[in-house]
Amino acid sequence: MKKLISTVLALLLAAGCSTPAANSEPEKPAEGIDYLVLVNKLHPLPEDWEAKLETVKVTNQLGNEVEVEKTAYEAYLKLQEDLAKDNVLIDLDSVRRTVAEQQEIVDDFTKEFGAEYTAKIVAKPGYSEHHTGLALDVYLIIDGEAIYDNDAMLQHPEIWEKVHSRMPDYGFILRYLPGKEYITGYAYEPWHLRYVGVETAREISDKGITLEAYLGAVNETDVRIDYGTSELYTPEEREEMTILIKCRFAAMEGCELHSLRYAGDESASAENFAWINDLKEDDPEYVKVACFLMDFHSPKENSGSFDPDQEYTEYSWWLGCDADGDWDIVSYGY
Ligand code: DAL
Ligand code: ZN
Repeated sequence: MKKLISTVLALLLAAGCSTPAANSEPEKPAEGIDYLVLVNKLHPLPEDWEAKLETVKVTNQLGNEVEVEKTAYEAYLKLQEDLAKDNVLIDLDSVRRTVAEQQEIVDDFTKEFGAEYTAKIVAKPGYSEHHTGLALDVYLIIDGEAIYDNDAMLQHPEIWEKVHSRMPDYGFILRYLPGKEYITGYAYEPWHLRYVGVETAREISDKGITLEAYLGAVNETDVRIDYGTSELYTPEEREEMTILIKCRFAAMEGCELHSLRYAGDESASAENFAWINDLKEDDPEYVKVACFLMDFHSPKENSGSFDPDQEYTEYSWWLGCDADGDWDIVSYGY
């Protein structure tokens, strides 16, 4: 979430590890914490959480103070040590955040990227898993350089694969899985680790499911995705389109996705090409157009622009693709 630091500083710091503050050495596991607590767009931090939470404050290799739930921190140190043996270096970036700190992040992101994009990647204050102290954002140190810019971190899938494969043995799951945005509410975040304990982490990771599904808060199999058939677009292209739609849908707070289906090649008519290119503000034009249809349920309350507690069917999502092959959502609605 921040910028790259200088290589020189990172080189100096890479050799060390996060150091706990002298007066906050972990002693025994915290009592009363529910390590399986669900905090997401629909579930705020429980009111009594802070009273039960025991944390340690550590200084990361960049000199920033990071606060972590104590059992999660002990587990993290073991994971970090194990990965270092394989020359994979990670460090803590952002862990526990207060509601006020989360608000600052939302404000900064909204100013820079706008409200819609911010909702896809940053939780509303009070609804961030980071409030629990159990969600750890880590950054990478590669060739002595600390890399903590989100886009830069996404350029290293092979390193994340190593990190992710070791996490369950230390009690961590990958919280925001690729392709599960419509359940978690957030885009893929390879750096966001969540402590749940070893047994649970192994089970969740083996099944490849979300924490929401594990806890029975959603039923992943209830969502029907139908890629249909097409002579215009490959299955991979149609899958990419559904991921874009699910990601955007995830920002529609409290809405429950039921089904999503390809509307058919006939949607790519000359008339629809003209229409979506009219909607496009900048050049060059879209060279492909596609449509998907969605059924979903609006939230019981606070349903924004939707009628509350309604089943919406045949809701259209229109996508365009430019000459570089980049698909984009152009319009959605009736
Ligand atoms: N980036 C995660 C979703 C958060 O803001 O809590
Ligand atoms: Zn995070």
